[in-house]
Amino acid sequence: MTNTYAVVLAAGQGTRMKSSLYKVLHPVCGKPMVEHVIDHIRGLGIDRIVTIVGHGAERVEETLGEKSEYVLQEQQLGTAHAVQQAEKLIGDLDGTTIVVCGDTPLIRSETMEALIAHHNETGAKATILTANADDPTGYGRIIRGDDGQVLRNVEQKDATLEEQEIVEINTGTYCFDNRVLFETLKKVRNDNVQGEYYLPDVAGILQAEGALVSAYMTDDFSETLGINDRVILAEAESVMRRRIADKHMRNGVTIISPDHTYISAAAEIGRDTILQPGTMIEGHTVIGENCLIGPNSQIVDSVIGEGTTVHSSVVLASTVGSTTTVGPFAHIRPDSNLGDKVKIGNFVEVKKSTLGEGSKVSHLSYIGDTKIGSRVNVGCGTITVNYDGTNKHITTIEDDAFIGCNSNLIAPVTIEKGAYVAAGSTITKNVPEHSLAIGRARQENKEGYVKKLNLN
Ligand code: UD1
Ligand code: CA
Repeated sequence: MTNTYAVVLAAGQGTRMKSSLYKVLHPVCGKPMVEHVIDHIRGLGIDRIVTIVGHGAERVEETLGEKSEYVLQEQQLGTAHAVQQAEKLIGDLDGTTIVVCGDTPLIRSETMEALIAHHNETGAKATILTANADDPTGYGRIIRGDDGQVLRNVEQKDATLEEQEIVEINTGTYCFDNRVLFETLKKVRNDNVQGEYYLPDVAGILQAEGALVSAYMTDDFSETLGINDRVILAEAESVMRRRIADKHMRNGVTIISPDHTYISAAAEIGRDTILQPGTMIEGHTVIGENCLIGPNSQIVDSVIGEGTTVHSSVVLASTVGSTTTVGPFAHIRPDSNLGDKVKIGNFVEVKKSTLGEGSKVSHLSYIGDTKIGSRVNVGCGTITVNYDGTNKHITTIEDDAFIGCNSNLIAPVTIEKGAYVAAGSTITKNVPEHSLAIGRARQENKEGYVKKLNLN
């Protein structure tokens, strides 16, 4: 079998993005665009992946880690010059090399696989992945001979008016015979409008030398979108979003309105779960089967069990058990762990807290830095007073305890097993097992007092 290598071009500054974030690190559905490209390449079982980095090199390397090898292109003199930088790593190897731009995140593994297969079958020295564009403006155009043979590529800025009429474009993805690629790169010149060394010129040079140059046309133009500015970024986001939604729907997830549901590339969702409109599933979130999420829920980097409901709520970096209900209008902040059959009701904020099985905080509460056991009922309006202005303190509420409405639990404090706190209490001392704590002013009735005040 032929060895296969990949070169990913990611050194450009991306001036047209007008951003302090390097272009290839802009996320599409929550994942940096260059990481989409690399992950799709990794799906192909390629022998070596080399990423050309320049602007923001460190950030790009940090983001991709060990998924790739890296070469620095110190000055961005063009795409051919970029590929040339990989010579010291792979220049003297036999095999086929696929070159992909780091700004084309929609290209699928299947398409790259078909391109490589086509290249190897035809025995061409260079194969360009092309597509017919509705609006080819900005792309390189493919010039073919009368017999349909690919002759060369011409960049938009160098094209004659007649050439600009051509709709078959260079997608920026290519396959080359590896050795031939690096030999031919040395012959590329920069005598063009932009004064750059153009990678697609390799194809023209080879053709002129009598080598076979081929094109493989994909029928899905959207796959080849090169993100140069934020308008195309939004377009790519929408294509990718729909692709991710389709994958989940095919796996048995119901998405009421795919256009109004945002699922990150990394999320996992179990079958028969229903996602209602306005829902965002972000980061590395895992959702079990038979859940009901939304409308308007945001779940980030969290794990949700089975049969759980998250209604109009925000869940961040937390774990939620099975058959639990959250919301409407709850906020589960990072490092929280809600067990099974838990109920978190409306206008409840939970921060860095644990709730055991069957515990309930149903209305209008703040639970912070708190350990709650099983079957605990926390009444409406209860506040754990965790902050003394300098430090945060822990509240512990053990199994089967019952906290009356509108209580303040001043941490550090422990409510032991089965203890009760009377409604309206401010608790500053531990409450022993099965005791009742009342921490409020005793009520006094002054009979007839109102009439006495009433002067007329
Ligand atoms: C390029 C192609 C064009 C094709 C289009 C498809 C050339 C000359 N033109 O144009 O034919 O239709 O892609 O999207 O190749 N880069 C480097 N180092 C450099 C220059 C660029 O690493 O010195 C990287 C960029 O980061 C980017 C990629 O190469 O990921 C493509 O560069 P870009 O400037 O976006 O090329 P286009 O003008 O889009
Ligand atoms: Ca581009």
